[in-house]
Amino acid sequence: MSAKDEINKLKKEIERHNFLYHSKNNPEISDAEYDALYQRLKSLESNLSSSEDSPTKTVGSKPSKGFVKHTHLKPMLSLSNVFNEEEFNKFEERILKRANIDKVIYAVEPKFDGIGISLTYEDGVLTKAVTRGDGEVGEVVTENIKTISKIPQKLTFNVPKVIELRGEIFFNLDDFDSINKNIEKEGGKTFINPRNAAAGTLRNLDVGIVKQRPLNIFLYALGGTSNDFSIDSHQDFIAFLEKNKLPTNDLISFGDAVKAASSVKKILDSRETLNYEIDGAVVKVNDINLQEKLGFVSKAPRWAVAWKFPASEKFSKVNDILFSVGRTGIVTPYATIEPVLISGANISNVTLHNLDELKRLDIKVNDTVLVKRAGDVIPQITKVNQEIRDGSERPVTVPEFCPSCGSELREDGPFLRCHAGMNCPAQLFGYFEHFVSRKAMNIDGLGYKINTHLINLGYVKKVADLFKLERHETELKSLEGFGEKSIDNLFASINNARKPKLETFINALGIPEVGETTASSLARHFKEFQSLRSASLDDLLQLDSIGEVVAKNIIKFFKNDPVGIDDLLDQIEIENYVASADSHLDGVRIVITGSFTEFSRDELKDIIKSKGGIPSSSVSANTNYLLYGEKAGSKFKKATELGVELVDETKIKDFLKI
Ligand code: IVH
Repeated sequence: MSAKDEINKLKKEIERHNFLYHSKNNPEISDAEYDALYQRLKSLESNLSSSEDSPTKTVGSKPSKGFVKHTHLKPMLSLSNVFNEEEFNKFEERILKRANIDKVIYAVEPKFDGIGISLTYEDGVLTKAVTRGDGEVGEVVTENIKTISKIPQKLTFNVPKVIELRGEIFFNLDDFDSINKNIEKEGGKTFINPRNAAAGTLRNLDVGIVKQRPLNIFLYALGGTSNDFSIDSHQDFIAFLEKNKLPTNDLISFGDAVKAASSVKKILDSRETLNYEIDGAVVKVNDINLQEKLGFVSKAPRWAVAWKFPASEKFSKVNDILFSVGRTGIVTPYATIEPVLISGANISNVTLHNLDELKRLDIKVNDTVLVKRAGDVIPQITKVNQEIRDGSERPVTVPEFCPSCGSELREDGPFLRCHAGMNCPAQLFGYFEHFVSRKAMNIDGLGYKINTHLINLGYVKKVADLFKLERHETELKSLEGFGEKSIDNLFASINNARKPKLETFINALGIPEVGETTASSLARHFKEFQSLRSASLDDLLQLDSIGEVVAKNIIKFFKNDPVGIDDLLDQIEIENYVASADSHLDGVRIVITGSFTEFSRDELKDIIKSKGGIPSSSVSANTNYLLYGEKAGSKFKKATELGVELVDETKIKDFLKI
């Protein structure tokens, strides 16, 4: 792999770990491993020039691990989503029907893209500020919240014994920019977006740092209260907040469904002019009695809905067009652009997919382009602004030789391909990473740094070599940064992986277009590896889930054998497929979307597979069920449109029989 490729890869990897650490509070690697990645990037960059967006230009504060926990009097809920007027009208119809009424007045306000907070006032005094946490239990961050001077320490109007007030913590966009500029000046790590900055600041243990950053707040909902407090409407609640000098947002408006829809549009239209990020509008039933009558379903109220806005698009400038080599040898063009913040993510690299796309866009270096990002979808360039070209644009030079191994590239349909297979370091590296990853052979103790060593030192030339690493025990143990213990742990983990299940092994093989789902179907059908390996095209086409393209990929993979299967089989013992005793989901196609309180999505997938079901990633006419949790988005919508059976979290255990 070229240094440039390695740098790009490291940047992505480090950014992902930053995200897991700062935003998700869920790091995957130890601090030492993180530091190793970081050092490697620094040393590579010292030879080449480092770009402005490099994580090495940005060292941020680490969030604390030590906040006291607190149970909210009333849980902090989430909201279900609508994306258009039609869905909003259905939301209203459900309300009308349930409450047996013919008109509802709503409050409409922006949906702030920040961090939820709950303020507790006892006898009128601010005693606690607690993060949302899992909705039931959050973390006490009172000291940090007290740095926001516009939050009154005392209530003066209509003061109850206890009251929880809910709102959103965020940064104004100009403050976010200056925070990042300051961090950059001091050689620290900047925040990816205002939301991450708010999260990182709110959970910072050093109140001295928090004081330097002007956190902001809007209050918008009532939590639990003592029973000496009652209020008739959301409008009155907002008035209560205002009389107590608590910050509220001035874009709020009230009216019937027609007015609500037009208010949402107004908020959408003003989006680009606001000094803070919003990702939609929230429409709430105004009448509190009616709210109580409507109640909740799972974790969301029936009386409020988040009306999500479409993905925003922004213009940016193409700094360069580069090519990266994937594990299957496909060489993908991508544009490095002036970083732009779109829907809460800072985008600096955008894939250009393939040669056809390059031609279609007719994109050049220095072009001004429109970048779009929708939800969790990868960023795309939707338009090249050719009218404003000024002659400084340079055409893309499609490489003739692989940027990693230098071998000649060939066009393969719309793709550019390096045919060097495992002789190409980028392909070997990518393949190796996939092979050992959690969903494949699941080998712990391997990460970017050690993988690079193993490949650069020539200890791993093909994946089978991984199982022969003990030959290099002495050298490995003397490598800087890897103690004896970590190498012993690695060996233990490699040995544990010597008996993979058939479906795991098929997935680990990395046959093009054969992922987890197809691997499971193949395992269930062929039961043992040799039958799959010797299967003919016709045999493969017997499976419903296998089409001609995938079948041909499989045949070609075993014929060309790019990974050295015999050598690999000498090292491992594949467990044949055993049908689970409970197979009530046999052949049933299930899509999972959203997040669940009791399960991770991977857990659900494993349970489904263990019962013969087929977890699939996208909703189609073939999907039998959709299991959905919180924040279910486009898949939920599509499933509803296609009439796929829906299972929410409350029904999952019955459905799975667990
Ligand atoms: S009301 C029972 N109003 O959105 C409803 N929430 O997906 C309680 N949010 O965690 C929430 N702006 O952090 C409400 N104007 C607004 C909001 C808002 C942002 C957040 C809030 C909540 C999430 C729900």
